[in-house]
Amino acid sequence: MARANVVGMSQALDLIDLRSDTVTKPTPEMRKAMAQAEVGDDRYGEDPTVRRLEELYAEIVGKEAALYVPSGTMANQVALRTWTQPGSVVLAGKNQHLVQFERAGAAKNSNIQFGLIREVDGELQVGDLCEELLIQRHFGLDVSLVCVENTHMPSGGRPWKIDHLAELKSAIGKIPLHMDGARLFNAAIASGVKPIEYTSKVDSVMSCVSKGLSAPVGSILAGGDEFIARARVERQILGGQMRQAGVIAAAAIVALETMVERLAEDHRRAKVLALAVSERYPDCGLDVVSVSTNIVVFDHKDPNSFLDHLNKNAILAGTISPGKLRLVTHKDLDDSSIDRACQVISNAP
Ligand SMILES: Cc1ncc(COP(=O)(O)O)c(C=O)c1O
Repeated sequence: MARANVVGMSQALDLIDLRSDTVTKPTPEMRKAMAQAEVGDDRYGEDPTVRRLEELYAEIVGKEAALYVPSGTMANQVALRTWTQPGSVVLAGKNQHLVQFERAGAAKNSNIQFGLIREVDGELQVGDLCEELLIQRHFGLDVSLVCVENTHMPSGGRPWKIDHLAELKSAIGKIPLHMDGARLFNAAIASGVKPIEYTSKVDSVMSCVSKGLSAPVGSILAGGDEFIARARVERQILGGQMRQAGVIAAAAIVALETMVERLAEDHRRAKVLALAVSERYPDCGLDVVSVSTNIVVFDHKDPNSFLDHLNKNAILAGTISPGKLRLVTHKDLDDSSIDRACQVISNAP
């Protein structure tokens, strides 16, 4: 575990980093696989390790094909460019990553307009969605895509209920459905719904291997053969075409093969943190029962005072919007670091 090296932090304590699951370091097995990876120029389809990763993910999510891209943001942006036409409308949750956290990339890269749907516990409500569809059609606009996020980060990493997803899919008829499954595997572990069951309800899906699964780089986008062939071109347009990417794809394969089941540990630890938060701040809008994956989100009237208190104790956390704090568990934390974090939270301002 890293030593505290942030100015002003206690230098004697090990650093506990609760900012994100993206801070995870590759495992020794990943590093070994990276060193030994067989590679080639992926532009010519000649990197056998990238090909193996794409085939593996496509199989896990039950799609015809997949495409390895450098980041989750690029996976979403490529999906938007592939599914939509400029001037069309994409219906998505108001707080989803591709709406709020991608620097208006959807407008710049795809020239689309979002129709924003209210989220309840991280899910789009079918009634609201159908109403919005009617409105957009009334004004003669083309709704080219609907997007969901599973798990839904801003609601505290909530997994979708499979019945709700199925209902939504049948309500939108022929309009394609894209899933930002950056943390699809967390959703699957927490809900007991297999990734392939979730993805049978969507037309395209992306997952990040660089978050809880701890690979150093990348996300994978999957869909039908024709969709992925077009997505490959869009990836190139966005500058995401890679060459001997087998070096990083090798770690991604280890991530998919060995790091999924252990996510349950992160979920258990997030629950422990959530209990500490709700004991300290009973009115912070946190329902401990709803914390089923690795993310704890809660309200605080002065987030900086909370973050400063944590920093002084060599703990890092962050905000996701004004007045909303986030703690994220991951494989580079253990029970004793969570216990210490709980102790520090118990006397936070
Ligand atoms: C739900 C969700 N989607 C997409 C992304 C983007 O992933 P990346 O950071 O690899 O661009 C994130 C990143 O935190 C995320 O939480």
